Amino acid sequence: MSADPATVTLRQPLRWPSEGLSRIPVRIYSDAQVYRDEQDLLFRGPTWNYLGLAHEIPGEGDFLTSRIGDTPVVMMRAADGSVRALVNRCAHKGSLICYEPQGHSAHARLVCPYHNWIYDLDGKCLSVAFEKGIQGRGGMPEDFDRSQVTLRVLRVEVLHGLVFATFSDSVAPLRDYLGPEMLHHVERTLGGRTLKVLARYSHIMPNNWKLYIENSRDTYHPSLLHSFFATFKLNRLSADGGVQHDADSRHHLVFAKRHTDVGSAEYSSGTLRAMKTDYGLEDPSLIDQWIEFPDQITNSIQSLFPGFVLQQILNSIGTRQTHPIGVDKCELIWTLLGFEEDTPEQAEIRLKQSNLVGPHGFVSMEDGAIGGFVQRGVAGDPDIHALVEMGGRGVGTADNRATETSVRGFYKFYRELLHV
Ligand code: FES
Ligand SMILES: [Fe+2]
Repeated sequence: MSADPATVTLRQPLRWPSEGLSRIPVRIYSDAQVYRDEQDLLFRGPTWNYLGLAHEIPGEGDFLTSRIGDTPVVMMRAADGSVRALVNRCAHKGSLICYEPQGHSAHARLVCPYHNWIYDLDGKCLSVAFEKGIQGRGGMPEDFDRSQVTLRVLRVEVLHGLVFATFSDSVAPLRDYLGPEMLHHVERTLGGRTLKVLARYSHIMPNNWKLYIENSRDTYHPSLLHSFFATFKLNRLSADGGVQHDADSRHHLVFAKRHTDVGSAEYSSGTLRAMKTDYGLEDPSLIDQWIEFPDQITNSIQSLFPGFVLQQILNSIGTRQTHPIGVDKCELIWTLLGFEEDTPEQAEIRLKQSNLVGPHGFVSMEDGAIGGFVQRGVAGDPDIHALVEMGGRGVGTADNRATETSVRGFYKFYRELLHV
């Protein structure tokens, strides 16, 4: 019996198109083997993954759960004030240990809900309930060695309150992994002030996780997909802006200065779908902003490999983290931030501008849908390739945003990790 040709195609190892980084094989959005390789080689490989904010676990025993790829992870504040991260999976039968998104555990212990095995933050098993049985009957075998029962402890580093963890013993320290350009921007956005969490929410998107990450690095799309940006002149390609990379083009930063927009014939041609000449704002104060940073930048999106985004849209500052959920679904978690030092007027502006972002945001809502459009659009033809040649075929910093350099940069590191 001959094999179904479609099955044969899917079983072949992934081969990147010979054109290199200017092509993306769309099979990577739907192939189960690629997804498994990403778990092993990328998420559990030499990458730093964002877990949450240190401010979200202020006291000893406070915890926040997260994931690295599919693997459940918990971060908890230890008695010495440090932040620890462990795989959130009991060594007995694999139950989640911390099952709430956020909470507190007395004495900073991890107590499994199923049979109540207890662990400390070094991953050591402190107690196995009824280890010796009941009145000499039952219990674990004589040669059971509790010291061999451990939880996986991850390396952790904290950068201006952002907690990152890695499974890798060999990956460079976080600050070296990011490089000076990326560190400078995190410092510029979050440094020197006391963070305050304004809101945290998430939504599920109907697309592979990489489609959202590509979108966060796609500097070509904002004024073309988002009518709100183009129509109200918040972020157009005709304003001063550019793209910055680290030395290896793994990470990305796009920035723009709204007030320098000189306009372009394309925006006034009447052919761009995004431009709505008959739209106005009932309350124009929605887009009032104060120039918050000495660099005069009014929009910046920083995307750190693999799944973390730091946003500044006018004065709306926040983090986004992307978690895969199988090949064709992912979760996007948003945390909106303010600072203790904000004046009441500034705090009010940040709250008002939170209407721009999130799943229903005037700016961000299209991003929640467009990945699904691509996922549905490429269905049925796993051997076709996307064409990403805007701004050339290479990677690196650019003095403009009409480019896909950062999408190519993401896949440069991705291909190294997955050996494709
Ligand atoms: S699964 Fe955790 S104690 Fe049994
Ligand atoms: Fe967007």
